[in-house]
Amino acid sequence: MKVHFTETVLRDANQSLIATRMPFSDYEGILEALDNAGYYSLECWGGATFDSCLRYLGEDPWERLRKIKAKVKNTKLQMLLRGQNILGYKHYPDDVVRKFVARAVQNGIDILRIFDALNDFRNIEVAIDETLKQGAHAQGCICYTTSPIHNLDKYATMGKQLEALGVNSICIKDMAGIMGPQEAYDLIKALKSSVSVPVFLHTHSTTGLGPITYAKAIEAGCDGIDTAISSFSGGTSQPATESLNYAVKQMGYETGLNEKVLKEINDFFKPLKAKYVDSGLLDSFVMGTETDALVYQVPGGMLSNLIAQLKEQNASDRLEEVLAETPKVRKDLGYPPLVTPMSQMVGVQAAINVLTGKRYGNVSKEIKSYLRGEYGQAPGEVNQDLVHKVLGEEKPITIRFADTLEPEFEKIKAELGSKARNDEDVLSYIVFPQIAEKFFKEREERESRTVTYSIIKKQEDPIV
Ligand code: CO
Repeated sequence: MKVHFTETVLRDANQSLIATRMPFSDYEGILEALDNAGYYSLECWGGATFDSCLRYLGEDPWERLRKIKAKVKNTKLQMLLRGQNILGYKHYPDDVVRKFVARAVQNGIDILRIFDALNDFRNIEVAIDETLKQGAHAQGCICYTTSPIHNLDKYATMGKQLEALGVNSICIKDMAGIMGPQEAYDLIKALKSSVSVPVFLHTHSTTGLGPITYAKAIEAGCDGIDTAISSFSGGTSQPATESLNYAVKQMGYETGLNEKVLKEINDFFKPLKAKYVDSGLLDSFVMGTETDALVYQVPGGMLSNLIAQLKEQNASDRLEEVLAETPKVRKDLGYPPLVTPMSQMVGVQAAINVLTGKRYGNVSKEIKSYLRGEYGQAPGEVNQDLVHKVLGEEKPITIRFADTLEPEFEKIKAELGSKARNDEDVLSYIVFPQIAEKFFKEREERESRTVTYSIIKKQEDPIV
């Protein structure tokens, strides 16, 4: 039996350790080796890479994808997509979602891993449908969380729902790294007995449970895991590729990975890591093991946000109270998984409730939209007193929020006119308007400089 390995160094490891600031030029030289290592797939696009390319790195994310594709000819390229949110935070109309998925596939993506923060699959079905229409692999996600209403039956039902949508595989996404080995074993067993598509597991090393959780998941029949090459593994990133390859083979499975090539890849990334440590981009703090998340049952990232937020308000001494309030707010909201954007929304509201001394005396704009049903359906029962208090007589919507949105791709394309050179530019603009506009302008300036330079250069060429 074979266990598939997805390498995350270009996306999740990059995002978790150095805020997605690795420019294409830093890793261009190792793409062929990454292609030859025997990975099932290479996660290299989506998530925060798109935003980071445009905002910080002056790179066109689409061009980056085409350049990766040119060098990675055999291994499948994988991206992470937030369903109806694409790569942003608001909901986009269906025509935009379809166009984005189609262009992602046409520019080189083979596998789209698609999730919704609330596990409301109405928010991922359009992206899944378009992925399949484009002939690519649709991987449907289940965001993992623990709560009194999340049990094995519920997860098995979600697995069946995803299978009914036609997904080619399912990924359980433990974004906080809080899944323990026994939970992984039971969950994978439950899913494997209810669906026939392959089941993948995604976790992080944050709490230190990652490798042992993967081992038990594999024992239960898990088909694939996400790992990062060792110099970019551990801490808030994924467990190490080489160590897991070693362990999984010892357990009697094939991995398809070539150790010599893995060493070559790691030798390439080691000096890059040293460079990022020197520049301060890589903080040793994120490389360590952080077990508080297990005590408080909130993701590590959410905990550090809360601490920073309270410090800003000169209220660091209220942390324990806020942490006690957090599960109560989560319960009132029907136990949403604590993944972006819900983790921030729940944390902020818990802090407001404690610091103002009046629960929901002040309610954030985002929580209001959530209670209106604009994010999708809550996993559990929402506190009706709270709904009434915030919305008054207004009734929450029960239809999918995107059904209330008008198509906008052609309209925005026409508005942009010559500012956008192609449909990819239009999509970048729709997802990150201000950032993309600034990027277009800088690109124009950069190119006119290059043209001037080459004209001067030509004139200076000696005539022979
Ligand atoms: Co992740």
